[in-house]
Order: sequence, then structure tokens, then C-alpha cells
Amino acid sequence: MSIAVCPGSFDPITLGHVDVVRRARTIFDEVIIGVAHNASKTYLFTPEERVSLARTAVAHMPGVRVELINGLLADYTSTVGASAIVKGLRGSADYDSEQSMALLNRHLSGVETVFVMGDSGLGHIASSLVKDVASHGGKVDDLVPPAVAAALTRKVRNV
Ligand code: PNS
Repeated sequence: MSIAVCPGSFDPITLGHVDVVRRARTIFDEVIIGVAHNASKTYLFTPEERVSLARTAVAHMPGVRVELINGLLADYTSTVGASAIVKGLRGSADYDSEQSMALLNRHLSGVETVFVMGDSGLGHIASSLVKDVASHGGKVDDLVPPAVAAALTRKVRNV
């Protein structure tokens, strides 16, 4: 059985992420969404909130589960027996930042990274932009799953 890990911050998960996970699932028998820590980011949602929102977003997708990754992604892929990391690309800027991570993860554990092109209609969606729109009271319903939109509204209203 082939397993892939789709890692990321998922702060929060967006429709772009869900699209990439769906595409990964057409290639691999099982896809694990790995909610990890990016040392260069500060987060709006706690790790537990990011996991919970991601679980709700993919609850309808068989063969997809969500786990928290503590520590190195390369170690995690070895532990679960994943044959690949899957990342989505929206364009060349994503490639530039992903290249070094892919090479480093392969250096650390031999795991390959597979890139899939996301839906071109979702290429403008990024968690950082979604948070910015929500913080200014903008509509995010068509950018994120419904539970995430509700969580963002609660978070920015501080309720
Ligand atoms: O969504 P992001 O923030 O771009 O995802 C980056 C992430 C979380 C996948 C990356 O920072 C990561 O893999 N963190 C786990 C710790 C680790 O393995 N760091 C070395 C990455 S080469």
C-alpha cells in the first residue's frame, strides 16, 4: 500500500490544500495530512485547532487522515512508511521555496517529494491571504471549507 504525506502549516487549511490532497489521493492509496511546525512562522491557530479544522475539511475523503507532526518531517515519513511527500505548486514562487525543502528532506531520509499542480482556479488562495481578508471582515466562504470560515470569524472577533 502506498502512503504519501502532505505536510504543511495548515493555518488554516484552504480549498487549495483540499484540492492538492484530493489529487494526491488519486496517486497514493493513503494520504496523511501532516500538520507541522514551520520555524519561520507565527500561527493564528494552535496545532490542535489546525488538526481539528483539517480533519473536518477532509472527513468526506476516504483514505485521507490528519496527524500532528512533532519534529522533523523526514523522520515522520520514515516512521509511517511513506513513499513520498506531496506538495502542491501554484507557480514558480512556490517552486523556489519548495526546492530546498525537497532536497533537504531527501538528504535526511531519502524520501522523494512529488509536486502536483493545483487547480488553476484556486491558485490565488493562500492561508496568509485568507487570514488577512478575514481579519478585515472580508468574505472567505469561497476560499476555505465552511468550518474554517466559521472558525476564522470567531477568531478575528475573539469569541
Ligand atoms: O505550509 P508551510 O508552512 O509552507 O509548510 C512548511 C512545513 C511545515 C512543511 C516545513 O516547515 C516542515 O516540514 N516542518 C517540519 C520540521 C522540518 O522537517 N523542517 C525541515 C524542513 S526541510
